[in-house]
Amino acid sequence: MSETAPAKRLYIKTYGCQMNVYDSERMADVLAPLGYGMTDDPAAADLVVLNTCHIREKATEKVYSELGKLREMRDERLSEGGSRMTIAVAGCVAQAEGEEIMRRQPAVDLVVGPQAYHQLPELIARSHRARGERLAADFAPDEKFDTLPSDRRPTGVSAFLTVQEGCDKFCTFCVVPYTRGGEWSRPPDAIEAEARSLAAQGVREVTLLGQNVNAYGGEGGLAGLVRRLATIPGLDRIRYTTSHPRDMDEALIAAHGEVEALMPYLHLPVQAGSDKILRAMNRTHTAESYVRVVERVRAARPDIALSGDFIVGFPGERESDFEATLQLVREVGYASCFSFKYSRRPGTPAAALPGQVPEEVKEERLSRLNALLDEQRMAFNQAQTGRTLKVLFEKAGRHPGQLVGKSPYLQAVHVTAPDRMLGEIVPVKVESAAQNSLAGVVELETA
Ligand code: 5AD
Ligand code: SF4
Repeated sequence: MSETAPAKRLYIKTYGCQMNVYDSERMADVLAPLGYGMTDDPAAADLVVLNTCHIREKATEKVYSELGKLREMRDERLSEGGSRMTIAVAGCVAQAEGEEIMRRQPAVDLVVGPQAYHQLPELIARSHRARGERLAADFAPDEKFDTLPSDRRPTGVSAFLTVQEGCDKFCTFCVVPYTRGGEWSRPPDAIEAEARSLAAQGVREVTLLGQNVNAYGGEGGLAGLVRRLATIPGLDRIRYTTSHPRDMDEALIAAHGEVEALMPYLHLPVQAGSDKILRAMNRTHTAESYVRVVERVRAARPDIALSGDFIVGFPGERESDFEATLQLVREVGYASCFSFKYSRRPGTPAAALPGQVPEEVKEERLSRLNALLDEQRMAFNQAQTGRTLKVLFEKAGRHPGQLVGKSPYLQAVHVTAPDRMLGEIVPVKVESAAQNSLAGVVELETA
């Protein structure tokens, strides 16, 4: 082993949302002082962390199948006289069914919920003495954020930054209020300090994260926070996700028209287009009130790219309800979207509703919805051809001499450009569009 090689190797696999991506980075930060360095190879890892997602049944099942593979890997290594692999399960599955994980998969050494991972070093040490460490159920994120190391090392020029956690909305299909707890906001000073430290290390873009980020309760609300962060030198782009239509207040909408750093992209889930279904989902908005919010946002920022989440096959959804969803999509016009088949989650109110929709009906509706959303995404991408967009170059592309960046509208843009442009925001003339990306050329400054 060379002198610089880390003493111990850490492999983290992240499932689910961007907040898990943030949490995984912070877990690595917590473990770094113990000598853990990252590896891409689970077979070589001393510690494997699965940072899990509980939102849909499929996401949860993936975790158990991955654990089965890890167990084989671990046993094989031991039988060959190799070193011990510690297996930890973190995230929302750990929170929701920690005990079941320990029972179903004996290879797991410890489980740790989303508000307790700052205690990983202690948990790992204890698990080496006796299996079965379980830490969850504590919903106060204060302690976690107070304990996390302040010297966060960003991994690129665009970084996630958690500002809010949890949800009080209780949509009847959703486990989040149970796995992440009630709405809680980080103080603006702490967020600003983290953002300044990221910017000082070359980060040009932050995405503010929260399960209900626009319900951010710190002083000045989310609009105030955005305006504050927009003054940080070097931080040229600000995004936020995920928002609830009920919390799109005037101040935030106005910020979209006034704050240059606030990117013209809004992820605003609607879930369904039928008021009957929206009511059964406890969304507390109607299709009409959602469309009004979109209109107000577009009045402030006409070119804004909209994105959303949709669920098809919610209990009681008839063909006519589903058609109302298609109608809403046509009316709004989305630049990108995420659509899901309703997944029955134990413990949520909707799981007990009558009128569960058969799998093949969900399947069929999902493909019709996706066909429409794909069409809209392609149209949005094509509308950019011929335009010059500012692109933040984030990484090398697949082909030599190519860089990949992001447009203000969060589209991937492939460009032939020198490596020195990495981390820079450069005008790019868009020449062609595909379903998932754009291609263009660097626009040379003409004096
Ligand atoms: N079934 C299907 N999709 C769900 N989502 C949340 N819970 C469920 C569920 N039980 C989707 C919603 C939410 C996104 C994060 O995941 O669309 O906005
Ligand atoms: Fe879940 Fe609804 Fe809260 Fe979003 S707003 S996290 S869908 S309960």
